[in-house]
Amino acid sequence: MLGRRQLIARAAALAATQFLAGPLHARPAASRVRTAVDPFALGVASGEPSTDGFVLWTRIAGLGEDRLVGYEIAEDDGFRRIVRRGTALAPVARGGAVHLEAHGLGAGRRYFYRFHFGEAVSRTGTVATIAAAPDRLRMALTSCQHWEQGWFTAYRDMIANGVEAVLQVGDYIYERSFGAGPNIRSFGAPDPVTLDDYRARHALYRSDPDLSAAHAAMPFLVSWDDHEVENDYFADRAGYTGDPKAFVDRRAAAYRAYFEHMPLRPSALHPGGEVRLYRSSFWGDLAAVHVLDTRQYRTPSTCIVEGATADGPIARCARPDSDQGSMLGHVQEAWFKQATATRPARWSLVTQQTLFSRLVLPAGADSLYPQFWDGYAAARTRLLDALDAAGTRNAVILGGDVHSFWVNDVKRDFTRPEGATVATEIVTSCLASRSGPEALFGPAPDLNPHVRFRDNAHAGYVLLDIRSDRIEGAMRAVSDLADPRATCRTLRSFVIEDRRLGASL
Ligand SMILES: [Fe+2]
Repeated sequence: MLGRRQLIARAAALAATQFLAGPLHARPAASRVRTAVDPFALGVASGEPSTDGFVLWTRIAGLGEDRLVGYEIAEDDGFRRIVRRGTALAPVARGGAVHLEAHGLGAGRRYFYRFHFGEAVSRTGTVATIAAAPDRLRMALTSCQHWEQGWFTAYRDMIANGVEAVLQVGDYIYERSFGAGPNIRSFGAPDPVTLDDYRARHALYRSDPDLSAAHAAMPFLVSWDDHEVENDYFADRAGYTGDPKAFVDRRAAAYRAYFEHMPLRPSALHPGGEVRLYRSSFWGDLAAVHVLDTRQYRTPSTCIVEGATADGPIARCARPDSDQGSMLGHVQEAWFKQATATRPARWSLVTQQTLFSRLVLPAGADSLYPQFWDGYAAARTRLLDALDAAGTRNAVILGGDVHSFWVNDVKRDFTRPEGATVATEIVTSCLASRSGPEALFGPAPDLNPHVRFRDNAHAGYVLLDIRSDRIEGAMRAVSDLADPRATCRTLRSFVIEDRRLGASL
């Protein structure tokens, strides 16, 4: 192991290299300027932790030209033991966003970071690298935060519980108002359409003190659902924008703004506007996290007859056994197969956006919601096949979207409840949105023996305490979305034991 002095020397050398090798062709102006507004009003964030680094993020809004932003990474929050210091480019073409990849740091170490711009210094953020052989990992699973419908107080509870990584699985922003209220605050702007509109919507979100503090305190592993663009869209198919060309433009703006505001690797932004969100992270051999994107590449459900739209449940799936439909698209499916087989881990966590298990509805045994995995039954089987072929020891499917908490036993054949459970499904409720009517899912547990727990009455998140012999989980419910001082309590706890799929409640 390197001594501290050597570490600092090496870090300084690396920082210098990074400075020289940086994309400086634009010759940014010197950053010694005074600005009337705080250039770091959007805060700081970290993401994509690995054993030797992470991504650090900030964004200087309103830049007229490319500028350099200084950064420091230290072992202490007083910045006396600085291990890395340098500059990173804030390009106007990326809205002044900085996505800095730090490498070469020590494994399993906590670091503090901050940015400089002119006289201004950002708030201090903190993030830890992943240990070489971790034996414990605390994660939070979260989705669905509607600005108008609730305070984001649940993030305080995550910080208080020592969460080491936040799995945000979509609906990070909402593009429009929903429902009759009552609301706690307003977007104060029309629905976003252009890049500037979406930038403003993301900036509004980051003005929330709890969300801003969460990003400064914990690394996020993000993926999106539909509301980051528009309700119920998938691939290049609009949810409600009438003109297909207008929708493609809207989606491009939304994707771009999402990338600009998230602590993603710079390589996530592909030429042509694709944002590559499917990826894997490894916490030693304790846990693999496979992040899936079920929106960007999704094909139409084979349950819906071409030309027809299905908002609600449909009574009979048009082509239930078709293997044509795909939630992930075939490229991502192939990637998943390979990703799960590459590196075994005790716990394989698969994050995706929506309800994975079969859900028989009161209308009858053949009724289903085609926008859930039920509308892609063959693709669901292929995903389970991939986990099986990889010899996955403990598969845990994590999702959100449905604004309710669920624990399900995942069956290879849901019509045979006595058959083996092949994975455990955990679904988080909304962090800050209203739940749908109870009738949305009907008496789900009665009609679906594999549904072990369902709660439609609370918002919150799921806390996962991952150890080598078990995962201890807790549905953390927010006491009152309208109360800015709300607290969380455990609504229900569960345990998933090693090699015993299905949770004990
Ligand atoms: Fe949602």
